[in-house]
Amino acid sequence: MPLPLERLVDFPVASTPRPHTNAVVIPHPKFHPEERLRAAASAGWNVFHFPAEMATYGDFLSDSGTGAFTLEQVVGMLKGLGSKAYGSRPSYFVLLDALNKYLCDISGDELFLTPQGRVAEWLFFSTLRDTLDHSCVVPSNGHFDTTRANVEGKCVRFRALDLPVSQTSPVIFRGDMDVDALRACFEREREVPAVFLTITNNTYGGAPVSFENMLRVRSLCCEHDASFFLDACRFAENAFFVTEYEPGMRQLAVPDAVRRALTLCDGFTISFKKDGLSDIGGALVVKKKSPLVKRYPNFLNELRVNQTGKIAHQTQGGMTGASHFAIATGLSVTTTKEYLAHRVALTAHFARLLRERDVPIVDSVGGHAVYIDVDRFFEGTRLCREDFGGVALTGLLLLKGIRACELGAYAFGKYDAEAGEETFPPFNFVRLAIPRITYEREDFVYAADCIAGLYNIRHHLPRAVPVSGRGAPLRHFESRFRLVPFDE
Ligand code: F0G
Repeated sequence: MPLPLERLVDFPVASTPRPHTNAVVIPHPKFHPEERLRAAASAGWNVFHFPAEMATYGDFLSDSGTGAFTLEQVVGMLKGLGSKAYGSRPSYFVLLDALNKYLCDISGDELFLTPQGRVAEWLFFSTLRDTLDHSCVVPSNGHFDTTRANVEGKCVRFRALDLPVSQTSPVIFRGDMDVDALRACFEREREVPAVFLTITNNTYGGAPVSFENMLRVRSLCCEHDASFFLDACRFAENAFFVTEYEPGMRQLAVPDAVRRALTLCDGFTISFKKDGLSDIGGALVVKKKSPLVKRYPNFLNELRVNQTGKIAHQTQGGMTGASHFAIATGLSVTTTKEYLAHRVALTAHFARLLRERDVPIVDSVGGHAVYIDVDRFFEGTRLCREDFGGVALTGLLLLKGIRACELGAYAFGKYDAEAGEETFPPFNFVRLAIPRITYEREDFVYAADCIAGLYNIRHHLPRAVPVSGRGAPLRHFESRFRLVPFDE
């Protein structure tokens, strides 16, 4: 029997809610369940449009720019507020020093600060499209949604290709790239200007990438004169897994593992909203030693022209001086073993709570999020992929003040309006991303109980029917849905 939405407002949950740590610091009004239902329905069941303050009991939409600032960061930010010069801004040099100290050797000529990670991606790929006049493929272990959109842009010459390792076995380094598939790609394709490794692999369940995989991918890149890039958003969490679990790397300190990875590559894009512990900021680094710069000696100049003309002056990067300080100080925290061990243990704890409640999640678990396997969640029910069960699941969680994000059949699928057909990605997840330094162990119990509550009534859940935005690029941000019981 499908349940009407009004009844779903009261779906049974084993524990009582408690506002999470941040919600206690910033007092939240109490919301009646009916108010959440109205808000979710008027947001078209799109989690991005649901009022954040109504996600009182757990906002797991993203770990990007959502963490708490440390006291040291706040002190640094106050100092940075005074750094407002248009050119040669002092806070820029504080940040440049920090990047050299905590990441790798970077000269000012090689660094392009940007407001976010996706702007760094846009800067890199739009400049590359202007530089190359032929078609090419950009392989990755898993392009994130914005990265894919920025690789491909509106032009059909550039194609983003995912080459993850097999996802069936729960090995720690499930984020690796399939090196044989990369070799075959090099043999098949005429032009592969750059290969990206996303650390950790946010698209494929958030799993880390081994250092050995980085070495093997780099060596193939060297053989084929391709540049080896990292999407380094979660570089510190990745380094933690490498030093904890990778044979031959266990004796290494986290900062050394970070430096090794970032020194190995020819460049990287990064969002400081993740392991930079900031609420804004990103960067593109293209090293002078990279094959790209050797082949196109004007590439760095072109990047600078685009940065200055379309983003901001090079010592600002579209950020305030306060943000430069926040990142510089943030990096000093996120590259410590103590911080990382606590963060990874917290994520593992959330995963354990879900496993204990039989909720099917992706194994093994990475550093920043727990992923529900939507296909397994709805196995044996009437729901198929076209019913976008992950969207329905995230919509119904809103009713309990819990916000998660569908990153599966809808977010990574594509709709061909002419044929009326969907193409689906090889995975189907709902992600619960954990903001940094925000939640405590107890905060996860209610969320796990809510998800288990829905799992227990999975045969009665509605499907999600897109009512707008189905054919749009990055459609999950704007689409609206109706939740429809099966009998309608
Ligand atoms: N690359 C990866 C792997 C990411 O996870 C993100 C953002 C970006 C690039 C873009 O960075 O947001 O600063 O523009 N991920 C966020 C998330 C949005 O929720 O996973 P940005």
